[in-house]
Amino acid sequence: METIRAARVDDLPAILAIYNHYVAQSTCTYQIQPDTLAERSAWFDAHGAAHPVTVAVNAGAVVGWGSLGPFRHQQAYARTVENSVYVHHQHHRRGIGSRLLADLVERARGLGHHVVVALISADQEASVRLHERAGFSEAGRLREVGHKFGRWLDVLSYHLLIA
Ligand SMILES: CC(C)(COP(=O)(O)OP(=O)(O)OC[C@H]1O[C@@H](n2cnc3c(N)ncnc32)[C@H](O)[C@@H]1OP(=O)(O)O)[C@@H](O)C(=O)NCCC(=O)NCCS
Repeated sequence: METIRAARVDDLPAILAIYNHYVAQSTCTYQIQPDTLAERSAWFDAHGAAHPVTVAVNAGAVVGWGSLGPFRHQQAYARTVENSVYVHHQHHRRGIGSRLLADLVERARGLGHHVVVALISADQEASVRLHERAGFSEAGRLREVGHKFGRWLDVLSYHLLIA
């Protein structure tokens, strides 16, 4: 069983490698160009205390990561966060994503956030199931707002009210 803890600067190369695999291979992220380590470092530095970044570590290796980020920048959204969960592609279906997400929800609750939002590409069954199993419910569909690998993509919004 892996340990979930707050991410550190020295986890960033592993976080980057896990993420860039999906940038190249998957519609789970709408990013098309891989991140650089400098961009991931800036992303990490921008996450203050209200917006944690976490890692799942197994036998000393980072096998997944999660984060809570601001949903929108206007002040009235301050208690709504958007989650991300990425598990190394060789470590799927072992419960790591579920445990990362449950941990993020607990952290969100502890930080006084009110709603956790997940924006999920509609073709990403794994992510839809992961969030539904964690108690998230669908709040709507934005049609054809993404375009990757030569096709238009719908985005589902999921949310969980936590407090
Ligand atoms: C989505 C993701 C995080 C799931 O991580 P995981 O560690 O494999 O998930 P778990 O083992 O905790 O699985 C939880 C449940 O999600 C569903 N699920 C996971 N992968 C699935 C798949 N490939 N197809 C269908 N359902 C899937 C299942 O219901 C699963 O429960 P089960 O194994 O008991 O049937 C992982 O597939 C991933 O990193 N995908 C790319 C990134 C991504 O889509 N992130 C989410 C959006 S930010």
